Amino acid sequence: MKKTTLVLLGFMALMACKTAKKESNAHDEDHDHFHSQYSSMSDVDAHKIIFPSKTPDRIIVSLTEDANHSFAVNWRTNQQVDTAYVQVAEETHGPDFLLDKNKQQFTAKTEFIAVENIRDQEPLVKAAYHSAIINNLKPGTNYVYRVGDGNKNNDTWSEWFQIKTPSSNKSEPFSFIYFGDAQNDVKSMWSRVLRKSYKMMPEVDFMLHAGDLINHSESDREWGEWFYAGSFIHATVPSVMTPGNHEYDKTVERKKLSALWRPQFTLPENAPIEELKETCYALDYQSMKLISIDAQSFINSEYSRNEQIKWLDSVLASNTKKWITITMHYPIYSTKKGRDNKELREGLKPLIDKYNVDLVLQGHDHTYARGYASNEGLGKTVVEDAGAIYAVSVSGPKMYESQNQDWMVKRGEFTQLFQIITIEGNTLKYDSYTPMGSVYDSFHLIKKEDGTKKIINDPESQEFMRFKSDFIKE
Ligand SMILES: [Fe+2]
Repeated sequence: MKKTTLVLLGFMALMACKTAKKESNAHDEDHDHFHSQYSSMSDVDAHKIIFPSKTPDRIIVSLTEDANHSFAVNWRTNQQVDTAYVQVAEETHGPDFLLDKNKQQFTAKTEFIAVENIRDQEPLVKAAYHSAIINNLKPGTNYVYRVGDGNKNNDTWSEWFQIKTPSSNKSEPFSFIYFGDAQNDVKSMWSRVLRKSYKMMPEVDFMLHAGDLINHSESDREWGEWFYAGSFIHATVPSVMTPGNHEYDKTVERKKLSALWRPQFTLPENAPIEELKETCYALDYQSMKLISIDAQSFINSEYSRNEQIKWLDSVLASNTKKWITITMHYPIYSTKKGRDNKELREGLKPLIDKYNVDLVLQGHDHTYARGYASNEGLGKTVVEDAGAIYAVSVSGPKMYESQNQDWMVKRGEFTQLFQIITIEGNTLKYDSYTPMGSVYDSFHLIKKEDGTKKIINDPESQEFMRFKSDFIKE
């Protein structure tokens, strides 16, 4: 190459660099965000988890109201990225899905959020949160997608993630994993639970989180840990979550939902009232109606309580799905000594009974229990008309003690757990596992023609129950 050409190229490179710098300054008054990606904050604990860059992070897919034909995706970048895209293609065996004719591009919704968690001395974090609902998909089809800025000269994308839409054949079996509170030491202690559940069932259709995903609602670091724990699993297995008390800001008496809940998740917006959008909702998945009740809001105000009760009544009255699962954070029957959620039970149990709800999946009490209202402490293996099954579970490391109650078929403590639930036709199979993959609790529900349910408890899993007193000498 001639010397003059080299000089010219060098000059062009210099100009390109200057132009990029100027543009970046025009977008962001904080120069540090773009060029050094918060390098001046590099001594901040958990720096990599807290601060965004232009590379997408905290990528998560969630279920929509119409999972057969759509999915929602959310992610985060620094605020330099003010326009963001999702590219989607049907998956192919080779790289041919990359051809322009095979992929579609969608523009995301972008909002700029700044969070400063003074309570935990966390630094100010400015981020751009992006979200999109990808519609018009084919049921039972493998897709790939990626998210990024689509910048013409210097684009930055995530890797391509795989996702499969559910089959339109309603009798096809499906599975989901239910997690109680992750809440504390999420990176350190919860990661293994989520990862083991995925290892045991990588083809799971979705994951359900029954509230208290984190401890401090406004802690960007804790949310970062939750996303870190799931990493690519969150981006390939759809999630749904109901908020717990810890998703509500303690510094304002748990009256305000985390400022990050709505920007970082996309959940159905079919709530009875505006303030419950994405916290109280219903969706259909194959043969199941899945409902989230915002239990904290339910406790907070009579208005919210009445609206949620009326709404639940109407949703269940028009339900055509064979199976009904409700998730809420506070349990209808508490397992922890001295706790009782009377308002919740008095408001919701009549509807649970009236509409023959199958599963009520809850958290909050940091113990395990599973049973049904008419059990009366009898411990039968087979029950012909069990009614709704209530479960309280915990996936994180914070543990409480519980007490025997008549509704409980199984009760345990001091064990991190996840539950794999599979529905096939008239049968629902529920297995609770420890992070070591041991079965902790197990039962089948068989739905009869008249809608009543026979429960078959697995007596073998009884032997594995653990209690604090068994291994902690005070
Ligand atoms: Fe809680």
